[in-house]
This record gives sequence, C-alpha cells and structure tokens, in this order.
Amino acid sequence: MLHTISFPTGKVDYYLNSSCSQLFQIAPTAHNIIITDKNINQFYGDLFSIYRVIIIKPGEDSKNWETINSLASKLAALEVHKTTTIIGIGGGVISDIVGFLASVYMRGVSFAFVPTSLLGMVDAAIGGKNGINVDVHKNMIGTIRQPKFILYDTSFLKTLPDEEWSNGFAEIIKYGCIGEPKILADLETNNINTFRSKPEKMNELIAICIQQKNNIVVSDEQESGVRKVLNFGHTTGHAFETLYKLPHGQAVSLGMLVALIASEKHTNLSTTVRMQIIQTLQHYGLPVKLRFDIDKVVQTLRLDKKRNNDAIDFVLLEALGKPIVKSLTFTEIREALQIFADAIKH
Ligand SMILES: NC(=O)c1ccc[n+]([C@@H]2O[C@H](COP(=O)([O-])OP(=O)(O)OC[C@H]3O[C@@H](n4cnc5c(N)ncnc54)[C@H](O)[C@@H]3O)[C@@H](O)[C@H]2O)c1
Repeated sequence: MLHTISFPTGKVDYYLNSSCSQLFQIAPTAHNIIITDKNINQFYGDLFSIYRVIIIKPGEDSKNWETINSLASKLAALEVHKTTTIIGIGGGVISDIVGFLASVYMRGVSFAFVPTSLLGMVDAAIGGKNGINVDVHKNMIGTIRQPKFILYDTSFLKTLPDEEWSNGFAEIIKYGCIGEPKILADLETNNINTFRSKPEKMNELIAICIQQKNNIVVSDEQESGVRKVLNFGHTTGHAFETLYKLPHGQAVSLGMLVALIASEKHTNLSTTVRMQIIQTLQHYGLPVKLRFDIDKVVQTLRLDKKRNNDAIDFVLLEALGKPIVKSLTFTEIREALQIFADAIKH
C-alpha cells in the first residue's frame, strides 16, 4: 500500500504492509547501496545481497563522527555519486546514521529506509530528523531532511529480541500520552504477545503511530512549534540514555515519568495519570525507576538542544492527550528529578 506524504523539504513514499522483496522494483540495483548493521546482515543479508552492502557495528556507540568518516571513505571508494540512493536497513541507529551521512555526503544524495526494529518503524525512520551523538550529548549534530521512501515489512519483527519490543512500545506509549488516548486503551487490554502473534494488529498500530507523527511533522517540520511535543519524555530521557548507557526506549520510559512529575507541579496533572502510565510501562516490560546522579543529569541537560538561556522547553501534559510546552528552569527540572530519584526508595 503506497501513501505519499508531502513535507516542506520533500515528499516521502510510504510503502506500508509491504515486503522487502519489493525493494528491487522500487530501487533498481545499479544505482543503490545498502547500509545495515551486523545483526540485520546476519539474519537478512541474503535478501539484499544483490546490492552493494556496507555493514557497521550495531548499537548506539556507532552514532558518531568516526562512523560517518569511515562510511564516507567507503562510499567514495565505491564511487557512490549524486544519482545513488543510500538505503538504510535497520533500527533507529541505522536510520539516524544513514539520513545524516546522505545529507552531507557530496552535499546531499538521496536516501531511503527499511526500518527493522519496532522503534524504527513507529518513530525513528519518520520525520526527517537524522543525527549523531557527541560525547554524552544525543543527536548533537544533525540535519532535517526527508528520505525518498520508507518501506515497511513487519516480518522483520520476527527476529527482534524481547527487549527491543519493549523499547519500541515506549515510543508507542508516548504517542498515547501526547495524542491518541485510544492507543493507551488498546495497549492496556493487550500485551506484547498479542501484538507479536497478530501481525495485522501490529500493522494497524504502526499505521496509527506513523499517521500521528506525520500529522505533526507536516505542519512543523523544522520544530519551531508543535513538533516539540514529540520530545515528551526525551529531555531527561536522553540524559539518562547517554549517562547510563540505557537503550533509547528504556530511557524514554524513565524520562516520561519525570515529565509527568513535573506536570503534576506545573499543570496540576492528576497523580492518577502517572500511576496509570507506570502500569502501562511495566506491562510492556519497561523500567519505571532509576538510581542516578541528579547533578550529572542537570549538567548534561545544560547542552540540550531545547535550552533557552536558563530554562529548557519542556513537554508537559495537562491531561492525557493534551501536551503543552512550558519553559522550565534548571531548578524546576531539578525538583522533578529529585522526586523521581526518591521513588527508588519506595
Ligand atoms: N531520528 C529520529 O526521529 C529518532 C526517533 C527516535 C529514536 N531515534 C534514535 O533511534 C535509536 C534507537 O533505535 P532502535 O531502538 O531501533 O535501536 P538500534 O538501531 O540500535 O536497534 C536495536 C537493536 O536491535 C537490533 N535489531 C534491529 N532490528 C532487528 C531485527 N528485525 N531482528 C533482530 N535484531 C534487530 C539491532 O541490530 C540493535 O542491536 C536511538 O539512537 C535514537 O536516538 C531517532
């Protein structure tokens, strides 16, 4: 099923409920190159061996300049030029690296994604933000540029490890918090195994998430306004992720709880919402407590991209489905972090 979505910087063809075997019709071999990680290549290398393939080390540690340098040299050695499309096949780490690399290599060549992780399918591959980390700062260097197409083949999920299923659900729970409360109702009455064993149900949920993110990004691609709400849980989440080497989804789970605590103080959100979200996060195998150093987290936040002098544009909830962006000072963020840190004692 093909849907085309037009963003200010370009249009993206979404091939939903598709099969990776279609890749050969969409993207003729001679012009393209695949970048993937070692895990994906081990499971699925045969599917795309007809292409020239570059394989990188899996994991967040690859999202850095060294990888970009080394990939750029490999592209040059393979004489990759302006008419080439670079196709990233993998999770969010691959889409971030490929999107960024393709945006700067030869001042921009076209790129496309085949997301293979749940988190990649519902979030990372969508919206055109691509970037790499610098020291403990997540996505510090990056671009906003849209892929030519995104091909969805949910049969990739068959080999996705349990922990990565949970990580993907963290972003789905985020969509439930900031947008569509019916997502939360659906999640509460089901569990990972229901979605795992019913691909059509998983496809439906993925489609809802894609639509929700795209509706927001279409109206504010450069994140000057409404797109900021997609950062719900990500401000402190990113600091937890890099400081404590947590997977992205786990870090977002914890970050959402800090945001809910801050909402209780600054928008009078009822504590029952936090209790409901804690249950849902746990139901999907996600962490709800963390032992951490508040000073280190606050120090990391000082270089957050949403910083505005002595404050950060923080996403809070007024109610489920009603996010607002409020400028919180570092002192106010520290207060919320303290309450969250104290939760480990209970
Ligand atoms: N650009 C954006 O808008 C955006 C949004 C959300 C997250 N992200 C980024 O995405 C990254 C997290 O993405 P992720 O959770 O997909 O991480 P990931 O790419 O590291 O994938 C997680 C692990 O699962 C493996 N894997 C992926 N698909 C598999 C499959 N089908 N079968 C077996 N193993 C598989 C990978 O090899 C890896 O080991 C973070 O760097 C985060 O910052 C970006």
